[in-house]
Amino acid sequence: MPDTAPAAQAPGDDEDPMAERVAEWAEVFDQAYARGTGAREADFNIVSWNSSYTGEPLPAEEMREWVDGTVERILALRPRRVLEIGCGTGLLLSRIAPHCESYHGTDISSAALDFVRTRLLAERPDLAGVTLSHRAADESAGLDEEPYDVVILNSVAQYFPDGAYLRKVLGQALDSLTGDGAVFVGDLRNLALLDTFHTDVELSRATAKLPVGRLRGRIARRTRQEQELLVHPAFFTTLREDRPAIGASTYSSAGAATTTN
Ligand SMILES: C[S@@+](CC[C@H](N)C(=O)[O-])C[C@H]1O[C@@H](n2cnc3c(N)ncnc32)[C@H](O)[C@@H]1O
Repeated sequence: MPDTAPAAQAPGDDEDPMAERVAEWAEVFDQAYARGTGAREADFNIVSWNSSYTGEPLPAEEMREWVDGTVERILALRPRRVLEIGCGTGLLLSRIAPHCESYHGTDISSAALDFVRTRLLAERPDLAGVTLSHRAADESAGLDEEPYDVVILNSVAQYFPDGAYLRKVLGQALDSLTGDGAVFVGDLRNLALLDTFHTDVELSRATAKLPVGRLRGRIARRTRQEQELLVHPAFFTTLREDRPAIGASTYSSAGAATTTN
């Protein structure tokens, strides 16, 4: 998560507020990634991953454990033809694509795609099956002729403008799958834990002398100023009702894998 978010702005009359919001996030990520072009390890560019508690970069060893865990869960789905929406600097792509026939990575940030192209694809013959496209998540329909067996949406949905956008993206993802394919949704922020999360962050920053009233005020302000999309787990129950083709959903704190059959 970058250390800044787009400032809330009123869209102009002829602007689509959803597209505007997506464009604002693209700018935020372009700026964040511009600081990481010289990353020492091309397959481990963690430039925009900052702690919500301290605002500081997340420790590399924690990131490595998290990336490895996510990759292991996705590889367990035995992917062969993959679409990753919001592939960023290729933390997952560089580890999963070598096991696949084809891997299509998309992102709204041209800085992210430039990094993957120049620092990963140009250097790594085992990434020959990778294709990149500069496009927003809700424009994934018809990207490839053949269906995917896994669509990855990891740590991306929090930058979507609203739930309807997420629903559209998931709908397109489900439509692009083989009969037994899976959509892997990872690192989602849980709406049911919004207060708990901000309370924990503010408690970690508070001194023992901070009056409870002021602590409550800080938590309320943080909650009011939240810029990212959080999703209630019930969203997926409803999704399954709307899309009966979804055969199974498994949830954990690290993500949800939704499969069709
Ligand atoms: C935190 S990074 C995650 C990268 C990668 N999926 C991973 O797990 O390492 C989020 C990425 O999503 C991209 N992104 C944000 N909103 C998007 C949207 N509406 N459509 C496509 N990509 C988006 C950003 O540009 C950024 O590169």
